[in-house]
Amino acid sequence: MHVVMIGTGYVGLVSGACFADFGHQVTCIDKDAGKIEGLKAGRMPIYEPGLDTLVARNVQAGRLAFTTEAAEAVRAADAVFIAVGTPSRRGDGHADLSYVHAAAAEIADLIDGFTVVVTKSTVPVGTGDEIEAIIRERRPDAEFAVVSNPEFLREGAAIDDFKRPDRVVVGLNDERARPVMTELYRPLFLNETPIQFTDRRTSELIKYAGNAFLAMKITFINEMADLCEAVGADVQQVAKGIGLDKRIGGKFLNAGPGYGGSCFPKDTLALVRTATDAGSPVRLIETTVAVNDARKKAMAAKVAAAVDGDLAGRTVGVLGLTFKPNTDDMRDAPSLDILPALQALGARIQAFDPEGVAEARHLLPGVDFRPDAYAAADGADVLVIITEWDQFRALDLERVRTLMRTPVLVDLRNIYKPADVRALGFRYASVGRA
Ligand code: UDX
Repeated sequence: MHVVMIGTGYVGLVSGACFADFGHQVTCIDKDAGKIEGLKAGRMPIYEPGLDTLVARNVQAGRLAFTTEAAEAVRAADAVFIAVGTPSRRGDGHADLSYVHAAAAEIADLIDGFTVVVTKSTVPVGTGDEIEAIIRERRPDAEFAVVSNPEFLREGAAIDDFKRPDRVVVGLNDERARPVMTELYRPLFLNETPIQFTDRRTSELIKYAGNAFLAMKITFINEMADLCEAVGADVQQVAKGIGLDKRIGGKFLNAGPGYGGSCFPKDTLALVRTATDAGSPVRLIETTVAVNDARKKAMAAKVAAAVDGDLAGRTVGVLGLTFKPNTDDMRDAPSLDILPALQALGARIQAFDPEGVAEARHLLPGVDFRPDAYAAADGADVLVIITEWDQFRALDLERVRTLMRTPVLVDLRNIYKPADVRALGFRYASVGRA
């Protein structure tokens, strides 16, 4: 199959490279000439484990190409994927669809012969209808079908998530698209991955409902963590105890500083807006959004409490800034709320992150960025773990203690065992554990 991917962000680049690895002929298109030049030279615009070798392998095999020129590839394509960004619109939290609409118009002008136009971007219910209308208006003669095929990949595990997904969802209103989509995902069919065919609006909603449910699950366990602290219980045991019930499941029950990233905050907000506009409010998700926002800010008070309530003039070492490990992504990272809140309480901050510092420098003024974890601990009154990078699990805590002015550790990801850390002479606070 000839596949075109419009947009080389996280979803577009990973999906494009994986479709090429499935044996399809893939062209990735982006307006950003610098990005395309970089990709041609083997430079990845994002940090994602394994992506560089996957791209190199498929470029070498002649199955994957990068260009800023859409015309030729779109004309030859069996399927054109729209994988451009859908950021939150300033002010109202609705998804900003201007890039999606622009891509639809561009596709309309170029398609030749029956073409399946697929949205991989996360788009509000009804966007497929809009794309269809845009193309139909510009090209009344065009032969095409618009399909919704949401992507569920997680950053840091993106390639594996694409190639071994729990399911593939395909929303279509035109049966001509079915054999094309089936052929595209043939290797997954052979894997016995469930492929759910449904209508387009339902598919669009599945993506939002899935992300909102996961965000709600995390928020639920975070509130249980606070309750555990208040009543003297252990949230990890609570998570295990409820997670063993197959109806609940044990995943996404790690308490922490609140969810962040490029999807959950944006998609929960967009779902709230869509539902409100449709006259069918989703109050659980409204509350999830509010609870999560408040939580991120409240983490500063937790750090203050660990040093008897006073952070004025104190030095806080911070380990981890990205919204989760194995990414350089700072979008809606909890650190962006926590660090300014610590500064507002009078703290000086020295921080380290393995991949996020380049981006964090622009986002976190007044922070002293350090070259490694020990340098972040050096002279600190309290050390806070915000992101659970593996290297922080393997710290030489004896060394950390001797470096710090006072040995206080606040572990917002529960990566250490309280007894172990306390035995080493630390004062230790974590999330939802007495
Ligand atoms: C998410 C969805 O998992 C994915 O299916 C969708 O396509 C995009 O959004 P991603 O944002 O890459 O993926 O990261 P994810 O691993 O889901 O984590 C999101 C946030 O939730 C992170 O801030 C993470 O730290 C937090 N989280 C996750 C928790 O606090 N506890 C958990 O148990 C799980």
